[in-house]
Amino acid sequence: MKASFDERRVIGDELRLREEMAARRLLVDRRLDQLVPSERIAPANIHAAMRWSLFAGGKRFRPLLLIFAGEALGAAPDKLISAACAFELLHTYSLIHDDLPSMDDDDLRRGRPTCHIQFGEAAAVLAGDALQALAFQTVVEDDALSAELRVRVAGELARAAGTPHGMVAGQAEDLEAESQTISGSELEVIHRRKTGALIGAAARCGALIAAASETELGAITNYASCLGLLFQITDDLLDVTATAEDLGKTPGKDERAQKATYPSLYGLEPARLRAGEVYSAACAALAVLPGPSATLQALARFILERRN
Ligand code: IPE
Ligand code: IPE
Ligand code: MG
Ligand code: MG
Ligand code: MG
Repeated sequence: MKASFDERRVIGDELRLREEMAARRLLVDRRLDQLVPSERIAPANIHAAMRWSLFAGGKRFRPLLLIFAGEALGAAPDKLISAACAFELLHTYSLIHDDLPSMDDDDLRRGRPTCHIQFGEAAAVLAGDALQALAFQTVVEDDALSAELRVRVAGELARAAGTPHGMVAGQAEDLEAESQTISGSELEVIHRRKTGALIGAAARCGALIAAASETELGAITNYASCLGLLFQITDDLLDVTATAEDLGKTPGKDERAQKATYPSLYGLEPARLRAGEVYSAACAALAVLPGPSATLQALARFILERRN
């Protein structure tokens, strides 16, 4: 059957997105390599542990989101790259700590042994700490940005990373909810905090660097708030449906740890339907933007359909 014009347009947008993602990912990886101290510098084991986790092939979704949001609103690409890397540094720290025996106790991440399995627990804790510090150092020393923007970006990053509404709060609530019965709205709050906050801040920082208007910032905030929730719903779904090979993590861990997830609370099909609704809400939020937003729409679709 011949594809309709609309289907061809969507396929075209997705192909273009994949090429644009690959090009930006290369730039992000190159800058990350410059930012993280070499394994030849002491403390060598900590630098090796940081690099082990960072250069293991993550999707780089948060930096790409910052870059695409910024570019959609007219920011020069070279103003976005260091801020984008700061989000990846902070995210990678969160993964290392999330995998620790005292948290999710995982031994596979990004297709390789987790940081604490490879380097020991103390080195993994310290590598995470150092990645978090480096994230803020990267923003504060980013000479592509004005002093005012650096402060703004650092504030967004800190608020999203910490408590009472950021990633640390969500991670604490996630652990507390293990083996507990919680409501749908409580689960949504956990997901918005542990995963959504950082994703939301990444998109907002792209917009702030682009000197977005209040309307544009509002639209990006609403879009990324949906995207953050969508990202964790699809993460929950993949834990049930994906293979270790595709995922680079051990699937089935959520059920074993009796985590509160969308599939555990609602069932697989309702969780998929909810993901579809949240995806549509993300796209609807973009309608307010005055300029074209095909890339941001395609990025939301990429999250809905991701396989890892
Ligand atoms: C995994 O994040 C942890 C969550 C917040 C769900 P990603 O799925 O972005 O992991 P990487 O960066 O691609 O490894
Ligand atoms: C983690 O959520 C969110 C973080 C802040 C790291 P998960 O615990 O579900 O992430 P994965 O599945 O281990 O990547
Ligand atoms: Mg976790
Ligand atoms: Mg985990
Ligand atoms: Mg998960």
